[in-house]
Amino acid sequence: LIGLKAAQKKAHVNQAVKKDTDKVVDTVDMEDIGEKKVFCRCWRSSKFPYCDGTHNKHNAATGDNVGPLIVKGQAA
Ligand code: FES
Repeated sequence: LIGLKAAQKKAHVNQAVKKDTDKVVDTVDMEDIGEKKVFCRCWRSSKFPYCDGTHNKHNAATGDNVGPLIVKGQAA
């Protein structure tokens, strides 16, 4: 059973973000988007929910191809 739990944890998409909560939910108000915001979709950013570029390391290490979501706001 310990092996199963370890395997389940390893299979989690989310390895480190807010693991003390049942569900990670973030809200960003449109007025805070500014010109653009870059959101993490690999779940490895230290600035989650924002991208910090860590997806590049993940892709290089695993052969994956994940990248961020870029939300463009109204230009100033
Ligand atoms: Fe996760 Fe960039 S760090 S998408």
